[in-house]
Amino acid sequence: MTGFKADRSRVIRDLENLAALVSKTEPGYTRLSFSEEDRLARSHLAGLMEKEAGLEVRIDAAGNLIGRGPGSMPGPALALGSHLDTVRGGGRFDGVAGIVAGLEALRLFRQEGLITRHPLELIVFLAEEPSAFGLSTIGSRAMAGRLTKKHLEGCQDEKGWTLAEGIRVMGGSPEDINKARRTPNDLLAYLELHIEQGPELDRQGVPLGLVTGIVGIHRGRIEVMGRNDHAGTTPMSLRKDALTAAAEIVLALEDVCRRRKDLVGTVGRLEVYPNAANVVPGQVKMILELRGLNEVVIGEALASLESLLERIEVGRGVKIDFEHQVSSNPVVFNPRMLNLLRQVCRESGHGYLELPSGAGHDASHLAEVVPTGLIFVPSREGRSHCPEEWTEYGHICLGAEILVRAIKALDEEEPI
Ligand code: HGY
Ligand code: MN
Ligand code: MN
Repeated sequence: MTGFKADRSRVIRDLENLAALVSKTEPGYTRLSFSEEDRLARSHLAGLMEKEAGLEVRIDAAGNLIGRGPGSMPGPALALGSHLDTVRGGGRFDGVAGIVAGLEALRLFRQEGLITRHPLELIVFLAEEPSAFGLSTIGSRAMAGRLTKKHLEGCQDEKGWTLAEGIRVMGGSPEDINKARRTPNDLLAYLELHIEQGPELDRQGVPLGLVTGIVGIHRGRIEVMGRNDHAGTTPMSLRKDALTAAAEIVLALEDVCRRRKDLVGTVGRLEVYPNAANVVPGQVKMILELRGLNEVVIGEALASLESLLERIEVGRGVKIDFEHQVSSNPVVFNPRMLNLLRQVCRESGHGYLELPSGAGHDASHLAEVVPTGLIFVPSREGRSHCPEEWTEYGHICLGAEILVRAIKALDEEEPI
């Protein structure tokens, strides 16, 4: 394939410029969704899409930023995408690698003067990470028709702003949320390049990963209500200590997951009240999540956890509320898309591995709508969601070239 060689210096320029558009006060690379940094990074990207890839840029009703170039014939588009928002104290490649590789791929089409039959899109999804509104993958969820009025009005941030108001600030129009919905009539296929966020590719020295499926993620909010008491005068036998009960819950989750294959569970967020050294904690709020490729195993684990919660409630005289929150179902990718990507990798002469994703992605929701493919590039030592997150620039350039090859193959193929 002549040409279509990623411009390494342009890719590095974009990665480094985006790495600078982060919070100046938060640790690591922090660009939370709906933040000023998120808005700055999106407008920076919009400028590049227009000026360098010749795309027409719009923001859809859900606040997704979409650049679109014409095809030689009308009809459904081929889309690339990922996200720009990060976790707090995150890295500079999660999401960004796919956005920059996608932008580079579309710049190459323009540079080589190749107009594909199908229109091409680059989608910057709003809020892929868990947001202040308690919801993740907001933009892609809307594209799959799964962002409901209940979410828009019911999800609030700590200042009481609704998700609808947040989307409006990002340029969306939540009152028309259904207009963000995509169907096979207007989208032929979706491809995402993403860092692996795990150790396999790096460990095996392989530059590309073809993702076979994405774990389902079940999140829940747990509140433990005990009783504030004096830390000095309250005998151990009379305490209703919310934190020791919460500690039992955290260890119970770990145990439930350790006993099952292909299941992981985490409590990554925990708040203690009143959080004073000399007061027995009366209240704990935490968010837990379980992830697995098999929905039955997730359901079983949740059931055994809930019976453990009852035992802890009775044993410790506390009250435990467990509100089930976000869940995205496990995804198995379209086998014909996987075949096409295998062929593309083979023709590129680069090695690849096939593996599932333990991380969630916008591709989970798009896979419910159109044939979807997810391609990984290596994460050094598998580290992610931390400032140590690193992916070689050369791997992102290779990723852009693989996206070009895949888009060309999809453009010529019969619909998958
Ligand atoms: O949480 C995840 O798996 C993804 O990185 N948002
Ligand atoms: Mn992430
Ligand atoms: Mn991500």
